[in-house]
Amino acid sequence: MTENRSNHSDSDNLGTLAILWHGDYLALLDQRQLPDQEIWLTFTDARTVANAIRDMVVRGAPAIGISAAYGVVLAARQSKDAGHWKFDIEAAVDMLAQSRPTAVNLFWALERMKTRLQACQSAAEAIANLTGEAEAIHAEDVAANQLMGRHALAIMGEEPMAVLTHCNTGALATGGYGTALGVVRSLWRANRLTRVYADETRPWLQGSRLTAWELQQEGIPVTLNADSAAAQILRQGDVRWVIVGADRITANGDVANKIGTYSLAILARHHGVRFMVVAPSSTVDMALASGSDIPIEERDGTEVRAVRGVAIAPEGVEVYNPVFDVTPAELIDAIVTENGVIERPDRESMKAMFPARV
Ligand code: MRU
Repeated sequence: MTENRSNHSDSDNLGTLAILWHGDYLALLDQRQLPDQEIWLTFTDARTVANAIRDMVVRGAPAIGISAAYGVVLAARQSKDAGHWKFDIEAAVDMLAQSRPTAVNLFWALERMKTRLQACQSAAEAIANLTGEAEAIHAEDVAANQLMGRHALAIMGEEPMAVLTHCNTGALATGGYGTALGVVRSLWRANRLTRVYADETRPWLQGSRLTAWELQQEGIPVTLNADSAAAQILRQGDVRWVIVGADRITANGDVANKIGTYSLAILARHHGVRFMVVAPSSTVDMALASGSDIPIEERDGTEVRAVRGVAIAPEGVEVYNPVFDVTPAELIDAIVTENGVIERPDRESMKAMFPARV
């Protein structure tokens, strides 16, 4: 189902929201169609939400977690008349967990929903409690993003600066405001931002299709660049920080994020530019010792062979399309979460910041 409506910018200046919960259905802004068209799709069952995550209607680690949580609510609403409601909801949780492998926020949100479900005694109670839990996950994400903006500014220096970012980490990728792009918003509002360089982010083009669009809508000065221009930009000297999000941060401070992040971190170190990762604690996975344990999603070769259905490579050519990479902790100057800033992350500093998660 589609809903027709114009974009949802909210009164708290959270940016263009992409996830709206309506009490009995979920609406997602179809990110595959941006920036050409703003089309909202509506969802009343968990299976179509899982498909929407897999097909990138909704994307970005926190946004995936939030959408999956609402997917569980939809499963609860659908199973309310059945005798085996708990079984049905658990099956929906398992199905949603199959949608994408790398962003741990998905599994973190589903775990929270499952824990809440275990305490429910009836289908009606499950609907009420799971709805409350999904809304809490959503609201906590927005609050974390705003807090991370404040934490980040405290370590960035007062002088106005240019920054470079990768992929899309804004309102579209989260419950609102954004992680790395939330820091960009905070810098802009504090009059400390001269320009954002946005990597176009091949192959899915999150940077050109989403980040450039989000920033333009708010009048934040953005310059779009091909990913391969990053070294040249960093050499020119006006970029002080590279700021990115994360899909999973392991116990030693390694970071999985959109493919191309690792090469940017190497470039930043080479050019003396500082490198910051911004992510809520829902992205932290203390159960994994290092980045080599993170499952890296590989997507279909057509994402590389064609752009919006137009071939840009010989038909049938073999493609390798890992959509995330791992940046080792030693290349990261700061990890910013809502809990605070970890400078030069390593196993000890991660453990100190997340003691209860070890
Ligand atoms: O494949 P995507 O678009 O879901 O990947 C998104 C990213 O890699 C983001 O950088 C990450 O999820 C952080 S979003 C706040």
